[in-house]
Amino acid sequence: MPLVPMRQILDEAAKGGYGVGAFNVNNMEQIQAIMEAANETNSPVIIQASRGALQYSRLIYLKKLMEAACEEYPHIPVSMHLDHGNSLKTLKTAIDLGFTSVMMDGSLGEDGKTPNTYEQNVEITRAAVEMSHPLGVTVEGELGVLGGIEDGHGAGLTDRQVQDHLTDPNQAEDFVQKTGLDALAVAIGTSHGAYKSGRKDPKTGEVLPPTLAMDRIHAIHEKMPNCHMVMHGSSSVPQELVDIINQYGGKMPGTFGIPIEQIQDGIKHGVRKINVDTDSRLACTGAIRKVFAEKPAEFDMRKYLGPARDAMKQVYIDRMLAFGQAGHAGDYTPMSLDEMKKVYGK
Ligand code: G3H
Ligand code: 13P
Ligand code: ZN
Repeated sequence: MPLVPMRQILDEAAKGGYGVGAFNVNNMEQIQAIMEAANETNSPVIIQASRGALQYSRLIYLKKLMEAACEEYPHIPVSMHLDHGNSLKTLKTAIDLGFTSVMMDGSLGEDGKTPNTYEQNVEITRAAVEMSHPLGVTVEGELGVLGGIEDGHGAGLTDRQVQDHLTDPNQAEDFVQKTGLDALAVAIGTSHGAYKSGRKDPKTGEVLPPTLAMDRIHAIHEKMPNCHMVMHGSSSVPQELVDIINQYGGKMPGTFGIPIEQIQDGIKHGVRKINVDTDSRLACTGAIRKVFAEKPAEFDMRKYLGPARDAMKQVYIDRMLAFGQAGHAGDYTPMSLDEMKKVYGK
């Protein structure tokens, strides 16, 4: 099956009342693990690559791996999405490569760090839509600013500053209307990476869960029931995965993720795309560390990349079941970009 426009995957998810995991990839093992998980759970899926991933995989390798994935599992609807595009030029590179969806992250400037003004965000996101829709390509935009900077994305805001940059539901309505985007990434207090909370118990020093403004999602859904929302920074950072890393020589204290129940609450209120990268990185790292610790003489890469692929697959299966996309791969006939162009042209 050729790659599907993400808009269709989100529209169908809205009809079915479920969410769809958008999983970041950098290499063959991740793509294979996602596709095996989607096949076993019969799930539509979104595969996404960041600018860093495009650079690491040297573009053409990623394109060919995605073609292989579609060829191997022709019954699975898959969308290929650019994560955190920083300029129209980056979007064009991804579209030329065959991506069926792009994110224009106009919440930040081209450096991926400095917050843009609202007007700048509207202007660049609108331009992204004008460039992409005539090609049938889906556009995700972002309003508000995520916390954290540890993976290179984000303004490095403190927990307190994050509260001032949450998505304003009234502005969201104006933003969607002025830009014409397909999916709206919201800032509700999540951040990228494994350390999602700067909060500590003042007495014990113990790390406390991040506070999420789920009420913003509820309010946006009430105002715009047909708006597809996106939750970034939505890894759950399971303690058991962190424990494996630490048991085999890693040092990752004080991690915290987003509880699955909060994501499920979001899904009930219009969240259709859930971004998960860190959980797969944790599973991969733990599995490799375990082999290295238990079999120090091992040097056949298949002996550690194989278990890493299996560990990531389990994470993807768990998320596909939790988000509700499992069982929905065969619900609809996938559209081509040409068909999508006509829909946008109406
Ligand atoms: O948006 C954040 C994703 O986790 C991608 O991270 O830029 O290190 O590939 P990355
Ligand atoms: P995590 O770091 O929580 O996995 O978030 C990934 C993400 O939002 C990618 O855009
Ligand atoms: Zn993100």
